[in-house]
Amino acid sequence: MPNSQQCSTKGLTGKHVVVTAGGNREPIDPIRFIGNRSSGKMGFALADVAQDLGARVTLITTIEPPKPEKYDVVQYTETCAEMREAVLSACKSADVIIMAAAVSDFHVAKPAPQKIKKQGKKIILELIENEDFLLELPDTLVKVGFAAETQDLLENALKKLETKRLHFICANDVTAPDVGFGVNTNRITILHTSGEKEELPLMSKRAVAHEILKRILQVVSHGQ
Ligand code: CTP
Repeated sequence: MPNSQQCSTKGLTGKHVVVTAGGNREPIDPIRFIGNRSSGKMGFALADVAQDLGARVTLITTIEPPKPEKYDVVQYTETCAEMREAVLSACKSADVIIMAAAVSDFHVAKPAPQKIKKQGKKIILELIENEDFLLELPDTLVKVGFAAETQDLLENALKKLETKRLHFICANDVTAPDVGFGVNTNRITILHTSGEKEELPLMSKRAVAHEILKRILQVVSHGQ
């Protein structure tokens, strides 16, 4: 593995890379939603670096990226169900999927058709678990995921690496102030199926994206 943080080649020329970014919004009524703190920054950095490496990039996002015109395709989605449809469709022609989005785990069973008014009583929302669409993607794709955790980081990430059949997973402890949601830096540990564990130092999300793409390039070029 080269030490440089930058990937200087156009090694992904001819490859189609799908990147998801941001956090889903699940409607409660036409005005309100259940969401999460994802800013999309990690996903945008990954899409940028993939594009710089010559890939055709489809960015599937819940948030407007800073340079939407940069990518071949930008698809805006809101809910997990919409993101799933977009990912499954884009992945029909993809070589690589990077699931950087914070996919919502639940949706409201029956979103109200009109704004819910206060009635001076308790409101109970019924939530239904969303499907894990990574599991629906073929193993011929290079699949990379993230595990944003608040406890038992490596144990949880390892479980996800195996159950989601990923090539590798990027684990980050989002309780640290300089890591995770909204900030421009990240500190990840990459877990490989071989059992190898790489702890990367704190760096900009762009530099983290370079490190991730460097490893994807290796898998794409050498199948490892
Ligand atoms: N993911 C996905 N489809 C889902 C949920 C998650 O493809 N419905 C992807 C995420 O984009 C991420 C990886 O799976 O790359 C791990 O997501 P995470 O939310 O950490 O894991 P979950 O399986 O949802 O487990 P939990 O929320 O219980 O920790």
